[in-house]
Amino acid sequence: MSDIRLHWDNKDLTLRAAGALAYTWVGPNDGELKSAGLMGLSQQLPSRRSNTLVVGDGIDALLALDGTSDTLADKVRLVYIDPPFNTSADVHCYNDAMDRSMWLSMLRDRLVALRPHLSADASVWVHLDDSEVHRARLVMDEVFGEQAFVSSVIWQKKDTRDSRAAFSNNHDTILVYAPSGPRKWKVSRNLLAQGTAHLDNKDNDPRGPWSDAPFTAPGFRAAQQYPITTPSGKVLKPPRGRSWYATEATYLNLLADDRIWFPKNGSGSPRIKLFSEQLRGLVPFTVWGTSETGTNDNAKRHLMTLFPDKQVFDTPKPEELLERIIHIASKPGELIVDLFGGSGTTAAVAHKMRRRWLLVERNVQTVYDFTLPRLHAVINGADTAGVSGVTNWKGGGSFEIAYAPPSFGEPLSKKELSRVKALHEQFNDCEALLVAS
Ligand SMILES: C[S@@+](CC[C@H](N)C(=O)[O-])C[C@H]1O[C@@H](n2cnc3c(N)ncnc32)[C@H](O)[C@@H]1O
Repeated sequence: MSDIRLHWDNKDLTLRAAGALAYTWVGPNDGELKSAGLMGLSQQLPSRRSNTLVVGDGIDALLALDGTSDTLADKVRLVYIDPPFNTSADVHCYNDAMDRSMWLSMLRDRLVALRPHLSADASVWVHLDDSEVHRARLVMDEVFGEQAFVSSVIWQKKDTRDSRAAFSNNHDTILVYAPSGPRKWKVSRNLLAQGTAHLDNKDNDPRGPWSDAPFTAPGFRAAQQYPITTPSGKVLKPPRGRSWYATEATYLNLLADDRIWFPKNGSGSPRIKLFSEQLRGLVPFTVWGTSETGTNDNAKRHLMTLFPDKQVFDTPKPEELLERIIHIASKPGELIVDLFGGSGTTAAVAHKMRRRWLLVERNVQTVYDFTLPRLHAVINGADTAGVSGVTNWKGGGSFEIAYAPPSFGEPLSKKELSRVKALHEQFNDCEALLVAS
């Protein structure tokens, strides 16, 4: 295979966070890149058992955690990142107009830093729009290998039309890579649950409603070519070029267990009865619509109910979208990482779905206004919207919060850090009161 790579300025340098919002290029002669450490902002330091919110840059957080805690001792099963898309637009809360070379290095360096922490069955989901997605795919090919590409998911982010534009853009793209490759990863990914609305109980089976499927399989298999006599007395053979679904012995067991259904008053071809627990789930489509995975506006409304006094940014992701990703790509107890945390959707949903999570957010004001109070609302059961219903979420659990100072530039002031710390403590006190009442 030919080796085609994307070139960009300063590609051979490393990009590091500098100060609160900027970045700087670092060359091989600039000395060793060392973590500036990790500062605990809660009573306990993050650990292998905790969920963790780190205030700081993603790479600084990974380096700091590596050096000072065993938070990442368990491998990461799922990475979901929703970085600034580089739309050049003026976005409230973060910089979305980066120099393109810096943006590409920013993405590459974070993926490279995450790579050693991934489990054998991990997947990495990168959420973008048309601004950079085509370049990002080449970057991901370079970091994980082309063979690791699983899919690009088209997520319909809105259902309103912009009549001023050439095209009313209503989708984002989520690039899905699995370092083990799609064939291996498929074995461990979860199918989507099938609804049960289509189940019926045509014969009043005491085991409950069922759906049915033809009792045939493609191809000719000698052991599955026997005559079946229908209740009306017709003798049937499998259709030409097909076989019965199972051998005669299995068929007779299923028949005795009342698992075979003959339509047309007992004269039709046999069908197998499938009760809800026997239904195989659905393989996910690559196009995800608003009715199942929500819109940016749904996510905004959710945040506005939690924070009626705050100006909410335009592109939070809905919990329904994260619920689907987390369902497909992980199991309860496994570790999920998001290095561009924003309002904390990934952590909120991971928590409600009983996964472990590590979330990093660089903008301290976002942490103060949204991420921290939202995650506390999840823990104390005050967040009843989003996927709280489908996950039967009533509250519980905890998380630790820490600060990873930038390796270059000015760290956050003591005043800002104590503000975050005090807010966390204030919520913890409220939770103690809630538990006692
Ligand atoms: C598109 S938003 C993420 C929204 C999030 N998925 C949600 O649903 O709320 C991107 C976030 O990444 C943060 N960010 C940008 N650069 C970062 C960096 N280097 N490290 C950590 N966070 C960063 C921004 O402050 C912003 O909150």
